[in-house]
Amino acid sequence: MDKQDEIKVLISEEEIDKRIREVGAQISEAYAGKELHLISILKGGVFFTCELAKRLTVPTYVDFMSVSSYGAEMTSSGVVKIIKDLDESIEGKDVLVVEDIIDTGTTLSYLMKMLEHRGPASLALCTLLDKPERRLHEVKVDWTCFKVPDKFIVGYGLDYAQKYRNLPYIGVIES
Ligand code: IMP
Ligand code: MG
Repeated sequence: MDKQDEIKVLISEEEIDKRIREVGAQISEAYAGKELHLISILKGGVFFTCELAKRLTVPTYVDFMSVSSYGAEMTSSGVVKIIKDLDESIEGKDVLVVEDIIDTGTTLSYLMKMLEHRGPASLALCTLLDKPERRLHEVKVDWTCFKVPDKFIVGYGLDYAQKYRNLPYIGVIES
């Protein structure tokens, strides 16, 4: 893909903004009276994390994790490799993982189990996008902003070969 890629808008900036406000309000209500520890999954989840965090009305902390998935064909012992771990312990904390997209579910099903073992008070998952048609591993998703079709999505944190993360909308590459 090069400079003349045509990208069709799937979800506009206005629609995303409206939906993040709604989900932000739901999350704020769910954690009322508590402190919330967001775990943003690098790099794609960062754009959504920032927008969501600004809409939360509970005291909010943000930490980052970077993982790489080896794909579904690998054994369960080595599906996800941690590239960058959290700076702080999550033991006894109310934790919300914030991801850009759940596709096959390989990364998140593994990551959520691993985080559960670290003893958080609670552990939940919020994703900007969900592509349910492609699921290979079951993942319990607590908040989804949008369900998307089985197409290659870019923008709002999602990349194609590291490009297009900065698009303010969610798009599909027209080829
Ligand atoms: P999973 O382990 O298959 O659920 O993959 C999740 C990761 O794959 C996401 O965090 C994205 O980084 C990447 N991914 C999956 N689908 C897309 C897409 O349509 N566009 C860009 N990245 C994607
Ligand atoms: Mg990702």
